[in-house]
Amino acid sequence: MKNRIYLKDLKDNVGKEITVAGWVDVRRDQGKMVFFDMRDMSGLVQCVVLPSHAEAIEKAKEIRPEWVLKVSGIVNKRPEKNIKQGVLNGDVELEVTGIEVLNKAETTPFQINENTIGVNEDIRMKYKYLDLRTERMQKNIRMRDKIITFFRKYMHDNDFIEIETPIMMKGTPEGSREYVVPSRLFHGQFYVLPQSPQQFKQLCMVAGFEKYFQVARCMRDEDTRGDRQPEFTQLDFEMSFVTQEDVLNYTEGMFIELIKSVYPEKKISQVPFPRMSYAESMEKYGSDKPDLRKDKNDPNELAFCWVLDFPMFEKTDDGELQAVHHPFCSIKEEDKEKFIKGEDMFSIRANAYDLVLNGYELSSGSIRIHERDIQKRVFELLKISEEEQQKKFGHMLEAFTYGAPPHGGFAPGIDRIVMILQNEPNIREVIAFPKTGEGRDLMMGAPAPISEKQLKELGIKLGK
Ligand code: AMO
Repeated sequence: MKNRIYLKDLKDNVGKEITVAGWVDVRRDQGKMVFFDMRDMSGLVQCVVLPSHAEAIEKAKEIRPEWVLKVSGIVNKRPEKNIKQGVLNGDVELEVTGIEVLNKAETTPFQINENTIGVNEDIRMKYKYLDLRTERMQKNIRMRDKIITFFRKYMHDNDFIEIETPIMMKGTPEGSREYVVPSRLFHGQFYVLPQSPQQFKQLCMVAGFEKYFQVARCMRDEDTRGDRQPEFTQLDFEMSFVTQEDVLNYTEGMFIELIKSVYPEKKISQVPFPRMSYAESMEKYGSDKPDLRKDKNDPNELAFCWVLDFPMFEKTDDGELQAVHHPFCSIKEEDKEKFIKGEDMFSIRANAYDLVLNGYELSSGSIRIHERDIQKRVFELLKISEEEQQKKFGHMLEAFTYGAPPHGGFAPGIDRIVMILQNEPNIREVIAFPKTGEGRDLMMGAPAPISEKQLKELGIKLGK
């Protein structure tokens, strides 16, 4: 739009006639005069329509909340007594000289100029594009962008490169059920959506990139909770020739810098972050994600802590043996003998670590196995047959025979980070288009049936 200025820049245009565009926030008809607040991506301003502008006042009487307008007007200083301190445009208003209605709006299902946290969540989800117009949601999504921008820059400043890894792949053992995508060309065969880029990032190390990162989308078909979504985002990274200490120090430095530059009002309770072993954490706090805040009511307190030396193996509720983190974690030197002998399995510890913040698991990672024989031994102990190993992980085992460097990494969950920093009660509040607890998108109506024709192409017959 020609000559349009953003509402945040009104203060630099006092006394001038300018054009703005945006949405009607609230309207107050006061008989002869009409007041309305207008909103754009940069802020809000009060608009005043005086009776002397006959055409404008007629339009102003017609407009309703959420109509889209192009407005011309003169930026005036507000009288001293009406100045709102500390608010954007608290000291200026717009004397409207012309209104052009760009689009009308139905009455919205909830108030856009109020916090929607108390509104029925299904309705918010159905009208997500309206929910996102509210001030709190705009802030959350914009802060999320700031955080991701910070991470990208920090990674690049430290010589990492972002590499996109496939979304259509074969299963990766992160411990959850996977989403599958049928192949049209190979009936009866399926792609699997990544639970994380774990295998690809390790293969990027074999490929010699040494420092990889990705703002990575991950998909897991698991029951959703406040801190879980079927689709979520990790700041996934991996480094070659590093020790656990290197990964911990790098990550700690990054989080300290994030808080300093993006959330200067917040305070980290303890630097360096306290460290404890998994065993200590379980014994002392009965949890592997202890909440170490001194004052749980302080919205600005951030209690980070490291939990180290996770066990390598565990039994699932069904009595099945599995890797606590994933089968690619290396074994602690002190426990190697037991590992080789296959003794006392559940006391074998991995070089695996978590970063915890205010009682949430923010991230998990480990120093990996980079030797084929050791990797095979883990699979053996997990009772994965030779045939199954080849079928599932043959590519990893093979890659390790071509000069795989020692490597390790980490994967902070971005949704959880934003949730905690924005003091939100769940991650749905910091994801633009989240899913319900049952994994539904109520706005688009997904999941949804597909046509008979598509099913046929895919070679799929539905059971009853
Ligand atoms: P892990 O499975 O522990 O590790 O995941 C790492 C981090 O990702 C976040 N996270 C989630 N966030 C929202 N919804 C979910 N369903 C969800 N699941 C996980 C959490 C968690 O700490 N490949 C390994 C990492 C590695 O070893 O480098 C992995 O994915 O914040």
